[in-house]
Amino acid sequence: MLSALVVLGLTKRYGGFEAVRGIDFSVGAGEIFALVGPNGAGKSTTLKIAATILTPTGGSVSVFGLDLRRSPEQVRGIISYLPEEAGAYRNLTGRAYLRFMAALFLESPAGIAECVSYGAGLSGLGARLDDRIKTYSKGMTRKLLLARAVMTRPKLAILDEPTSGLDVANAVEIRRTIRALAREGMSFLVSSHNMLEVEFLSDRVAIMSGGRILACAAAGELKREHAAGNLEEVFMRLTRP
Ligand SMILES: Nc1ncnc2c1ncn2[C@@H]1O[C@H](COP(=O)(O)OP(=O)(O)OP(=O)(O)O)[C@@H](O)[C@H]1O
Ligand SMILES: [Mg+2]
Repeated sequence: MLSALVVLGLTKRYGGFEAVRGIDFSVGAGEIFALVGPNGAGKSTTLKIAATILTPTGGSVSVFGLDLRRSPEQVRGIISYLPEEAGAYRNLTGRAYLRFMAALFLESPAGIAECVSYGAGLSGLGARLDDRIKTYSKGMTRKLLLARAVMTRPKLAILDEPTSGLDVANAVEIRRTIRALAREGMSFLVSSHNMLEVEFLSDRVAIMSGGRILACAAAGELKREHAAGNLEEVFMRLTRP
């Protein structure tokens, strides 16, 4: 089966600094793949490249067989991207925001209405969708933004720290939504520095540090291989001098 994402020998240089130093990984169709690692590991840089926001310095990236450099427009038609620090238009209601975003992707009024209704359900915000976004808590805004990112049913959703800054209940809800969508066939590339979270969320994990992937496998396999109780211990063992 065609992979959702294939990254080969990817490098990214910011001026003289190499933030991503030759990484390889692939995300299967319907898979939840997580990049984890400490601050500055290169996770967001990798996600931005996959989302066609940044151009790579070297290497290749393809999404469902489409090369990112050759066919960026086609790739944009089948992915969605939730940035690390996304905001929403504060004076719109949540529902108006979903409608506005749906209209950027779709033309027919019926298609837009269906998309908004799907997004509204996914957001779990209920009646609060008719309040202005400026009255939302951080968790409510993040749930709205996640709904926006997946309501168009992208084949690959790229989510940069989807649960960052959220309390346990909201984080659990977002993880549940992501898992349910993956069961329906959506593929996910997510980032997190919460190694415990990705054990629950993802099918496979790549542990990144200093622009490199130190290990990549299912969380259970990594724990067995390194005789560790959790991914944090795996990370400590991999980085111990
Ligand atoms: N626009 C930029 N210009 C120069 N350096 C950058 C730029 N963006 C990121 N970097 C550097 O590249 C490295 C990787 O950054 P990146 O944002 O990809 O890390 P990250 O793994 O997402 O970290 P975090 O967990 O803090 O979000 C860091 O050292 C960062 O300072
Ligand atoms: Mg980041």
